[in-house]
Amino acid sequence: MSNKQILLKSRPTGWPVADNFELAETTVPEPGPGQIVVEASYMSVDPYMRGRMNDVKSYVPPFQIGEPLQAGIVGKVVASNGGAFDVGSYVVGMGDWANYTVTDGEGYHAVDPNLAPLSYYLGILGMPGMTAYVGLKGVAELKEGENVFVSAASGAVGQVVGQIAKNMGCHVAGSAGSDDKVAYLKDELGFDEAFNYKNEDVYKAMQRCNPNGIDVYFENVGGPQLEAVIANLNFHSRIALCGMISMYNATLDDMPPGPRNMALLVGRSAKMQGFIVFNYPELGMEWIQVAAGWLNEGKLKYHESVAEGIENAPQAFIDMMQGKNFGKQVVKLSDA
Ligand SMILES: NC(=O)c1ccc[n+]([C@@H]2O[C@H](COP(=O)([O-])OP(=O)(O)OC[C@H]3O[C@@H](n4cnc5c(N)ncnc54)[C@H](OP(=O)(O)O)[C@@H]3O)[C@@H](O)[C@H]2O)c1
Repeated sequence: MSNKQILLKSRPTGWPVADNFELAETTVPEPGPGQIVVEASYMSVDPYMRGRMNDVKSYVPPFQIGEPLQAGIVGKVVASNGGAFDVGSYVVGMGDWANYTVTDGEGYHAVDPNLAPLSYYLGILGMPGMTAYVGLKGVAELKEGENVFVSAASGAVGQVVGQIAKNMGCHVAGSAGSDDKVAYLKDELGFDEAFNYKNEDVYKAMQRCNPNGIDVYFENVGGPQLEAVIANLNFHSRIALCGMISMYNATLDDMPPGPRNMALLVGRSAKMQGFIVFNYPELGMEWIQVAAGWLNEGKLKYHESVAEGIENAPQAFIDMMQGKNFGKQVVKLSDA
């Protein structure tokens, strides 16, 4: 059986470009004892993959030159050599950026294709949804009725953050990089306020959109927005440091300095804590239950950007880093 994969051809310096990636055609190996073969229906495109393209030590090892990139995949088990999942069943887990992944199934979970669209298991019912819940509940310890601000608010994680907070009776404001995204936040997701950080003064917009100050900031972007948030923090506020995408393509030479007003955290008795979604596995699983219920009750919406075909995965990644995605970016590989 033939397999198409996307390999890392070279490590990006600064912004990733198409030439950093290579499409390769190979043959799917026979599964070894205990292994399964998964035909991916969708594969995930995530900002953290940019960090794995650098040759630096992190919480996940770097991608290797000449090897397939890896990401969340959801798809059908098409072969098994005594593996933990039946042929014909659907699973989600970490796989190759490829049509087929051979795996021992470690870290994989069975999913129900009748419960939700398969792609949701890479988004709202997967790692990004869990990240939103874990960041709000586990890190920021969000309470009913608080004032929440989230950046990259229309993205895979951000749109879930805003909806969880709204469902908890909070005042929710967010930022995004286009007027369409801002309209979606206000008109479709019920955000109280939202602004386009690309065409408004961020300091003024932050003040206007958070009239009662900010109790919880769900940080996805870093840069000028973090500084503007700090200026509006309430007493005993919390910042859940989920990511800082504005810095992912910066080199040491052009890395912007950190917020100039960090000293304000002292007087506000504010807390800032970084986290990785997998630090809180129980909360992550709790989210799947909560989300399934809320989806059923119509209390959650989810916007996705779907690229078609493995050959378009690198461009989908490059576009996502530039904000051209609208919601969770996935690549559709098959109708399996
Ligand atoms: N800690 C964890 O465990 C964990 C897990 C998942 C994700 N994350 C982090 O969460 C954040 C969001 O991830 P996601 O998967 O939900 O991605 P996403 O928001 O769906 O896509 C990335 C978005 O970032 C925004 N962006 C790009 N450059 C920016 C800049 N310079 N300033 C402001 N916004 C910028 C763009 O939206 P706009 O059009 O709005 O600019 C883009 O669409 C990332 O920082 C990611 O690394 C962390």
